[in-house]
Amino acid sequence: MAGRVDGKVAVVTGGASGLGAESARRLAREGAAVVVTDLAEEAGRAVADEIVAAGGRAAFMAQDVTEEARWTEVVDTTLQRFGRLDVLVNSAGIGEGGQPILEATLDAWRRTIGINLEGTFLGVKAVAPTMAAAGRGSIINLSSILGKVGMPGTAAYCASKGGVLMLTKAVALELAPLGVRVNSVHPGFIETPMVLNTFRRSENENEMRDNIVSRHAMGRLGVPREIADAIVFLASDESSFMTGAEMVVDGGYTAA
Ligand SMILES: NC(=O)c1ccc[n+]([C@@H]2O[C@H](COP(=O)([O-])OP(=O)(O)OC[C@H]3O[C@@H](n4cnc5c(N)ncnc54)[C@H](O)[C@@H]3O)[C@@H](O)[C@H]2O)c1
Repeated sequence: MAGRVDGKVAVVTGGASGLGAESARRLAREGAAVVVTDLAEEAGRAVADEIVAAGGRAAFMAQDVTEEARWTEVVDTTLQRFGRLDVLVNSAGIGEGGQPILEATLDAWRRTIGINLEGTFLGVKAVAPTMAAAGRGSIINLSSILGKVGMPGTAAYCASKGGVLMLTKAVALELAPLGVRVNSVHPGFIETPMVLNTFRRSENENEMRDNIVSRHAMGRLGVPREIADAIVFLASDESSFMTGAEMVVDGGYTAA
């Protein structure tokens, strides 16, 4: 049976954990070759090894998404190794350092904006020439429901994710005539290390979990597969008429 992304080559940042790791696995299962990148080398390599052991094609590259020069190496190595580059999933991100505005520091703000927003900008910028020259490509940026609605104590995160939303739309308009699609994904709260660690760090873990769960109309958190499936759809030609779109996958969080 043909895979949904057969023959495509994808780069997935933040591929060592959570949504990036699950997207890498599912893209590979649907026929793509996947370059997994992350700061976390051991865990990232393990995801690539797992894909290869399951019969897929994958490689790992250590990468800090905030370093522009490393992006060039990731693109060049991907082209050398797999011959083309069709999909970029910008999943690397941080959710730490949530601070009420009265206590917020510029350092924490810059760290969040630097990774979540500038890292995404650098990724888009790095792959765009290759994709435009080929006349095809799909860039998928992980924003969040918190790029669409606010939450107290998360100004930097919300600003970074709102920035990703608008970066996506502006670039989508520029690249549409060149055959390259750019879309953002807006997950609700999903059971990944990012979210589970946030619960753990809170004063009352169960109370915080119940509070967050209650904001989703479906009465539960999401699981990584539910976001990875949306990402496979956006990576595939099934979504060939979608660009500049905000794909919300949030169990009804923002429906209210
Ligand atoms: N989990 C959720 O509920 C949720 C909801 C909405 C949006 N998101 C977004 O989805 C993306 C993935 O989140 P996740 O839940 O899988 O988180 P996660 O913490 O499980 O994984 C994030 C990965 O990014 C990597 N990373 C962090 N900084 C990096 C850097 N500078 N360079 C390269 N890699 C770096 C980490 O090492 C980690 O492996 C993030 O952008 C996040 O903001 C997550």
